[in-house]
Amino acid sequence: MVDFMLNGEVVTASSDADTPLLWVLREELTLRGTKFGCGIAQCGACTVHIDGQPMRSCVTPVGSVAGKSVTTIEGLATPVGEALKTAWTQAQVPQCGYCQSGQIMQAAGLLETNPNPSDDQITEAMNGNLCRCMAYPRIKRAIKTAASGEVMS
Ligand code: FES
Ligand code: FES
Repeated sequence: MVDFMLNGEVVTASSDADTPLLWVLREELTLRGTKFGCGIAQCGACTVHIDGQPMRSCVTPVGSVAGKSVTTIEGLATPVGEALKTAWTQAQVPQCGYCQSGQIMQAAGLLETNPNPSDDQITEAMNGNLCRCMAYPRIKRAIKTAASGEVMS
């Protein structure tokens, strides 16, 4: 049994402590916004925040988040998160959409620590989040829009 905060509420996972957090989120707790891509920390589709830091949930044992705060795309309700989601919609970023929750969680981690990143800083921060639909230009544009504060509600 592992207790942790999930999107602001205490949850108890009954999975073994070495079960990947991604499996617990999707299969035990039925939050399916976080995606399985590679399973080896190489694509970013499974990105969630752990104590505010973007992390790959596919290689994070659930036991390691005991007592910590986990945020998934379903619970991303910060001003930065809302700005990103609005910018994403305005820029019509997704194509198939599979990578997108991971992209947004990674971008939110960037803007929380660097509210006005340069192009190079965006590229570096997003480098590990792959998009097989090649939506990279729209992803970068949406991050810049969210950072600029120009999103319309
Ligand atoms: S599924 Fe976790 S990084 Fe690819
Ligand atoms: S939108 Fe299809 S993988 Fe990124």
